[in-house]
Amino acid sequence: MEVVIVPDAAAGGELIAEAMAALLRRKPDALLGVATGSTPVPIYDALAAKVRSGAVDASRARVCQLDEYVGLPGGHPESYRSVVLRQVVEPLGLSTESFMGPDGTAEDLLGACAAYDRALAAAGGVDIQLLGIGTDGHIGFNEPCSSLASRTRIKTLTEQTRVDNARFFDGDIDQVPHHVITQGIGTILEARHLVLLATGEGKAEAVAQTVEGPVAAVVPASALQLHPHATVVVDEAAASKLK
Ligand code: F6R
Repeated sequence: MEVVIVPDAAAGGELIAEAMAALLRRKPDALLGVATGSTPVPIYDALAAKVRSGAVDASRARVCQLDEYVGLPGGHPESYRSVVLRQVVEPLGLSTESFMGPDGTAEDLLGACAAYDRALAAAGGVDIQLLGIGTDGHIGFNEPCSSLASRTRIKTLTEQTRVDNARFFDGDIDQVPHHVITQGIGTILEARHLVLLATGEGKAEAVAQTVEGPVAAVVPASALQLHPHATVVVDEAAASKLK
């Protein structure tokens, strides 16, 4: 695992956007696995700026989601489908056909989970998977004690994660869904390159356990230690508890 400490979130975003641009120059139809939440926004802004300036052509890129809320209609502004369309697909000028995600509105949710794993494999696998990290060490929505071998499945959000995400729902925790579909840790580990970005002091403890603690299901992000090509990019605040 490679750990890169950057001065701030904008520098982290620029570094990772440049790695994505380099990938797209090598492999124009690369499958980009994207995360949602606040942390990756500087990456998407920096990558869109590179596309606008002509520094990279992303017109053949493909995009896939890491996770999705269960029960929010696809058009809900906080469904992850809507967020990824708004923050990634539209700014990069991609069509919705180049974008896939798990269906959190399916009647057969278990079938939708298995179908998503099959779709990722049929697409040739994820070339670069961006990850944020929860204050409790989750990646995707694999909350503490998720199996390190897990596949895409339904998970129940912890109270802490629902509190953390209430800010996207007018601060009202009652609006935050209880369930999600998330790529499993085993699914995430199949991506060719994992890139985790963590910014801010609130992530410092989770980062320290991820990087310096044992590989353990209680800290799902520690599974990155098992991956042959994992990069953890942290700003100085998020790095503040590293030894
Ligand atoms: C979202 C996701 C989550 C977030 C994590 C951090 O797709 O997979 O693991 O990355 O909850 O969220 P922020 O960046 O909002 O602190």
